[in-house]
Amino acid sequence: MMSKTNVAVFVSGSGTNLQALMDSSIESANIAVVVCDNPGAVAIKRARSRYIPVEVVNREDFESREEFERQIVVRISRYDVGLVVLAGFMRILTPYFINLFKDRIINIHPSLLPSFPGTNSVRQALNYGVKQTGCTVHFVGEEVDAGPIILQAAVPVAQEDAEENLLEKIHAQEHRILPEAVKLFCEGKLTLIGRRVLISS
Ligand code: GRF
Repeated sequence: MMSKTNVAVFVSGSGTNLQALMDSSIESANIAVVVCDNPGAVAIKRARSRYIPVEVVNREDFESREEFERQIVVRISRYDVGLVVLAGFMRILTPYFINLFKDRIINIHPSLLPSFPGTNSVRQALNYGVKQTGCTVHFVGEEVDAGPIILQAAVPVAQEDAEENLLEKIHAQEHRILPEAVKLFCEGKLTLIGRRVLISS
């Protein structure tokens, strides 16, 4: 039997990417815990419906980002986490957390990085007038949305696209490449060389 990597999925909102991860039942990955900073997030219900433990840690209960993260670390310490997946987690992590899970945190972002980092990436892409946008799965470093790129998928922008339906098209690609990237990581197929991520077959 293939050994499994315990994965912690961090969410803040609707959790469609979490759903895609759960639905893809990756043999080498075990979604051990879901961490959520928003007690009202739909993602919590999605996790509970699959009997996955949820740790709700509300940022508002803590004075600083680091205290908030220390609490998260305490809560996930019992799950032997080998990979942290930021799947719509709306908080920027501090170097404290990033270094604790060095090269073991990945994020999904709704643009073809390095274009349109930060928030409202889909609106930014539309306003800029690009003909192609998409999504990126990348390792998380200290600089926001700038870590080494694991996978990207392009999405053409149609003339009639508005933010909402373009986001839908991007989501469809996210739900494909995020599980793929998690699978590659958990199978030990990703090698970091500087900024480049090599994928072995
Ligand atoms: C996704 O578009 C992802 O790229 C961004 O946040 C969104 C999360 O959506 N980081 P969901 O909560 O997975 O539905």
